[in-house]
Amino acid sequence: MKHLICLSDWSSEEIFDVLDLADKLKYENKNRIAHDHYLNGKTLGMIFSKASTRTRVSFEVGIHQLGGYALFLSSSDIQIGRGETIHDTARTLSRYLDGIMIRTFNQKDVEDLAAYGDIPVINGLTDELHPCQILADLMTIREKKGFLKGLKLCYVGDGNNVAHSLMIGCAKTGMDISIATPEEYSCMEKYVKIALEIASNTGSKIEILTDPKEAVKDADVVYTDTWVSMGMEDEKEQRIEIFSPYQVNKTLLSTAKQDVIFMHCLPAYRGYEVTEDIIDGPNSVVFDEAENRLHAQKAVMVKLLADYS
Ligand code: CP
Ligand code: NVA
Repeated sequence: MKHLICLSDWSSEEIFDVLDLADKLKYENKNRIAHDHYLNGKTLGMIFSKASTRTRVSFEVGIHQLGGYALFLSSSDIQIGRGETIHDTARTLSRYLDGIMIRTFNQKDVEDLAAYGDIPVINGLTDELHPCQILADLMTIREKKGFLKGLKLCYVGDGNNVAHSLMIGCAKTGMDISIATPEEYSCMEKYVKIALEIASNTGSKIEILTDPKEAVKDADVVYTDTWVSMGMEDEKEQRIEIFSPYQVNKTLLSTAKQDVIFMHCLPAYRGYEVTEDIIDGPNSVVFDEAENRLHAQKAVMVKLLADYS
């Protein structure tokens, strides 16, 4: 049985297999080729301790299209919110469900859910990681550029969950990644270490910088995310001040490659991490990226839930 907790748990080959399957499922979806046999009769529980638009809707619609069923479990409505342990929750839910997707704060809660339950667990975002997002991102980049290996992705902004998973996803697929964050909001050491180790096998280059201009130079892909992630709202004022030199705008983007694509996991805050002309401009692929959450996650569910039991 496999989980999707961190992309580092999957081999490069497994990641490329899921991207291929996602392309196939997208093709079938667009051409109205029925594929509701893949997860016929399977049920996915979706635990949310944080807000979501894309993750919730794409998982729910995705499993429906594959013939299965999704259950939305808000952590404030289930007993976790009143103190039932992750261990007991994992053991109980394993008796009803075929898989669990969880969006929460602590990375350890996702790991415990996987350790104590006996069904596949999918990380739908924690404070540290967002692997589902990055699979959709890789799918989108490959669609736009035709390949991944050797491309340069630049991430500017907060060294957060998206940045960590991007670094690992790029390393796994042989992409080069330059990350520019303010010194005090840099990526967690442990994920830099994991990514560097993977990169030493795949040949990808990882640069950890503080200067956004240096990072963006000759990039094929420029990516940013909110400066104020969920749970950090109290730091908003201070963050806006520190992050302002990291805004993706026309000037910053001008040193990237001419055919650069702009990406953002969304939700976006126009006028902060990105200007309106860039996110709504010709280089932006953010809504294709959002759409691909559906196709990539369908592939993840087929891989994890259909192979199991
Ligand atoms: N990108 C993303 O995960 O969006 P949601 O928070 O809307 O799920
Ligand atoms: N870094 C953002 C991603 C939202 C999808 C957050 O954690 O809020």
